[in-house]
Amino acid sequence: MKLIAIETSCDETAVAVLECSGSINDATFKVLGNALYSQAHLHAEHGGVFPTLAKREHIKNLPELFKQVEAIAAGAELIAVTAGPGLEPALWAGIDFARELGEKLHIPVVGANHMEGHIVSALVTGDETSFTLGNQQFPMLALLMSGGHTEFQLMNKWHLYEKIGGTKDDAIGEAFDKVARLLGLPYPGGPKLAAAAASSRASGKKHEIVFPRPLQHEASCDFSFSGLKTAVLYKLNELNTVAPLTESMREHVAEAFEDAARDITVIKTRRALIETGAQTLAVGGGVSANLEIRDALTKLIFDEFPSTQLYYPHKSLTGDNAVMIGMAAYLRHANNTEPLPLTARGRASL
Ligand code: KG4
Ligand code: ZN
Repeated sequence: MKLIAIETSCDETAVAVLECSGSINDATFKVLGNALYSQAHLHAEHGGVFPTLAKREHIKNLPELFKQVEAIAAGAELIAVTAGPGLEPALWAGIDFARELGEKLHIPVVGANHMEGHIVSALVTGDETSFTLGNQQFPMLALLMSGGHTEFQLMNKWHLYEKIGGTKDDAIGEAFDKVARLLGLPYPGGPKLAAAAASSRASGKKHEIVFPRPLQHEASCDFSFSGLKTAVLYKLNELNTVAPLTESMREHVAEAFEDAARDITVIKTRRALIETGAQTLAVGGGVSANLEIRDALTKLIFDEFPSTQLYYPHKSLTGDNAVMIGMAAYLRHANNTEPLPLTARGRASL
């Protein structure tokens, strides 16, 4: 089945064309076309994503991106579009475009869940142009870490979700972005903060900055990141009163923050794996690109849960994209699971 997928939940406008085949246990996805435009640089001056600007940009970009894949999209049987979660004005831009396109091409349009897209992105293996899904072992645990979400979703079978923990305040990506901003790094600061932390580690220079691991002793799979961000703010103020912050000091702060974010992720993932006995761990969302956290989770699985299969997304699928939306929609279709209704639901849960 050929399908067109559209993603506009945040600040990436994306249109993909996929050729999908197989069942829920052995699906294959050929990426026939993948047009993506990141608006991040436009939002940088606001220090975060500005919803009405995102909407306007999506409306402007969608026809141009579709034009890039139009020839290859001929003969498509289905359109999938992100219905939530995300910024509602941005979601509507994608839904309205998808609906009009569906009418023009006389094919059905279905809604897809953005977070399910991040889960599927982790589970498939491939090389950017084609992906396959193996026969997954249940129970399956998904650790979702993005700019808007940080949560554990337990699946005892496909499309049946139970949230067993999540952040009580900021998402982990949001914490990376806010701390990056405190350090003077432009939005989206997550990857830039990670680079600063890596530079501190590579320098081999010692420092004594340690930040808290929030909720580490709480018997839950919940997270909290706002206190960690505040601890960084206080530390920066304290350092600044002694002397203006040097570049190497800034990098040490980045390292200490990333250490804390990494450790709390490992602590909570260990707890979630013990509680659920999960046979599969899928790590998805933008922050799954963070190498410090990836390596620590890989070590956790290797040392303590050797029978659990660990999955990360291919680097082309870590951030927001339309390929994951198409894959998620196809798997619902292949499994006879209801798609999402064509209504923007900013806070849609799984
Ligand atoms: O999933 P995503 O692309 O968009 C949302 O659905 O939110 O996630 C974006 C988030 C941003 O907060 C970004 O700073 C963060 O992922 N991020 C990272 C890294 N790459 C992206 N955070 C830490 N380290 C990274 N390497
Ligand atoms: Zn996302």
